[in-house]
Amino acid sequence: MAIRKIVLIGESSLRKKSKVVKDFDDSLWQLLDDMKETMYENDGMGLAAPQVGILRRVVIVDVNNAFIELINPEIVSQKGEDIEEEGCLSVGTFRGRVKRPYEITVKAYDRYGYAFTIKCEKWLARCICHEIDHLDGILFVDKSIDKDKYIRQGGKL
Ligand code: NI
Repeated sequence: MAIRKIVLIGESSLRKKSKVVKDFDDSLWQLLDDMKETMYENDGMGLAAPQVGILRRVVIVDVNNAFIELINPEIVSQKGEDIEEEGCLSVGTFRGRVKRPYEITVKAYDRYGYAFTIKCEKWLARCICHEIDHLDGILFVDKSIDKDKYIRQGGKL
């Protein structure tokens, strides 16, 4: 395992759309293992592959001590609304409120290519939504209720 460098806001790769994973092979497992180490090293709750410069649809999350790997994740349904503050390892110290669904059902694949579906709510749902946004080049500051404050403080997009 190795700690990879986190791509920061302002770098163009963070704004690109990630590609679907087709090969569930050694290089994917290496990426997942490195992402896990990188996330824990930086005290993150989640990390998406584009944040380490890899434009593939790979996400990891750790909310309430439950570590989950999601390959090619897709939100298949959502319910309700929830507003909480978020931060991001690619954005720095700014934290801002974001409106997200309260509950989501997500379909994804594990590292061996087997499909699974999880239904989750509140923080885990929020974290997964945040990470899936990264796969489409979207950052939480783009949709934050506090976006104006972020800009006033000199924040980059
Ligand atoms: Ni993030």
